[in-house]
Amino acid sequence: MNEKNQLGFVHKFIPSEGSKDQNSVTLLLLHGTGGDETDLIPIARMLDITNASILSPRGKVIENGMPRYFRRLSEGIFDIEDLKFRTNELAEFVQNASKTYALNLNRIVAIGYSNGANIAASVLLLRPEILSNAILFRPMIPLVPNTLPKLSSKRVLISAGLHDPIVAGYQTKDLFDLLEKVGAKVSIQWQNSGHELTQRDIVAARKWLSLL
Ligand code: MLT
Repeated sequence: MNEKNQLGFVHKFIPSEGSKDQNSVTLLLLHGTGGDETDLIPIARMLDITNASILSPRGKVIENGMPRYFRRLSEGIFDIEDLKFRTNELAEFVQNASKTYALNLNRIVAIGYSNGANIAASVLLLRPEILSNAILFRPMIPLVPNTLPKLSSKRVLISAGLHDPIVAGYQTKDLFDLLEKVGAKVSIQWQNSGHELTQRDIVAARKWLSLL
């Protein structure tokens, strides 16, 4: 397990344990506000993907001491210019990391939670070449691009909380509708929970991944 900053983000890279082939998947883990690059590693392990490498960057925007991936003006109100800038910055990190660690750039699957899910959705919308698929836990619509991408080759799982006090149901639904409109094969699962992750999220994600 390495921790390096020369790619511009503090991050962890964990190579796949099995023999790596051309089709090896890389899980791009994107934590929630106040988290760090270690947060989602146990979740990724629970997903049982054989031969997956893990690339897990820490968000570079600090809000009251808490790392995030982009600035917000208040809860759920995003600084769109910063979001665009940070989305491109993250995309470039993934591109550079794919060279450094010999990752297949066509097999990057994002797993994001909350703020991490929101930047993953933004990468899908603004830099779709970076991600092949994504699991978005508790996301909301991050932005609507001026030019809509074509995402017909992408599969996206949204796992939302029915009683989420931070993300209103319509914000999740708006993201679902946008992804569907641009052709992504998107499914949504509503968990009987709040903003926190539950075992049911893991079960849903594992099942969805096994069908990819
Ligand atoms: C958070 O607290 O991270 C928000 O719910 C999502 C965001 O700000 O991106």
